[in-house]
Amino acid sequence: ASTLGASAAQTGRYYGAAIAAGRLGDSTYTRILTSEFNSVTPENEMKWDATEPQQGRFNYTNGDRILNQGLSNGSKVRGHALLWHAQQPGWAQSLSGTALRNAAINHVTQVATHYKGKIYAWDVVNEAFADGGSGGRRDSNLQRTGNDWIEAAFRAARAADPAAKLCYNDYNTDGINAKSTGIYNMVRDFKSRGVPIDCVGFQSHLGTGIDSTYQANLQRFADLGVDVQITELDVAQGGNQANIYATVTRACLAVSRCTGITVWGIRDTDSWRGGENPLLFDGSGNKKAAYTSVLNALNAG
Ligand code: G3I
Repeated sequence: ASTLGASAAQTGRYYGAAIAAGRLGDSTYTRILTSEFNSVTPENEMKWDATEPQQGRFNYTNGDRILNQGLSNGSKVRGHALLWHAQQPGWAQSLSGTALRNAAINHVTQVATHYKGKIYAWDVVNEAFADGGSGGRRDSNLQRTGNDWIEAAFRAARAADPAAKLCYNDYNTDGINAKSTGIYNMVRDFKSRGVPIDCVGFQSHLGTGIDSTYQANLQRFADLGVDVQITELDVAQGGNQANIYATVTRACLAVSRCTGITVWGIRDTDSWRGGENPLLFDGSGNKKAAYTSVLNALNAG
């Protein structure tokens, strides 16, 4: 097939992009979006600070714009992210203990209920594990409410929207390492105790190399009985960019439970890593070598 989405669909997968509501008026941006991608993720619009700017007062304006853009194009919509230590509204940052726990769970329930039946997969909890060699949880205001905050969030999300796949999402998990193993152990524990979890997202913000255990890491999670998804892919531009994109694509295709790939933006100029030109389209909207490499890899699968 001749587009990313249609090519991924040949093996039952999606190829998505993170998008920003503020760019939907840009005709080059929306032309590429609607022609190439069959999944969207809101880059910021469904985060806690955006959806509940004051406690108990919800604002879905921009989140709904992303949702409707995706649904009107026949795309899947990934919800991102119900709970995260970053991009919390100021009022939540000032809470702790039971008040914060209750506010967090209420947030999960309210937002998942608003989008009930429309979201393919939610990042229920984002980035809750520490970097480095500990394999343990990241310290945060949410973690300080008790180690069970993650499972409480997943249970609340399942109750609110039983049809959505519920994902745990993190970065620096692009191979078998202490951090990914900590997450692996949590998922194994959740599966053994019946805590509802359906998928793990691997952000995959990559530099100029890729871990040789990238595919094996996806596979070990899939073997626990969860789907895996590449959720925020971008790759520093350098001699290897096109090859690394192809390697990630082939890894997903080789893992039957890898259901799709999302790149974290459309053009290099849309990226949070703008100076690194990490995406598939240049600032003018032209296809880069990395685009062709991904398209060929999808069609070889
Ligand atoms: O919308 C305001 C605007 O009103 C204001 O004038 C401007 C001034 O700074 O800020 C704007 O908000 C910015 C927002 O992006 C929208 O552009 C925030 O400052 C900025 O912090 C925010 O950055 C986002 C970042 O998450 C926040 O941590 C990036 O766009 C977004 O790509 C990035 O995405 C994260 C994922 O959610 C989780 N994984 C890592 C990934 C990259 O950091």
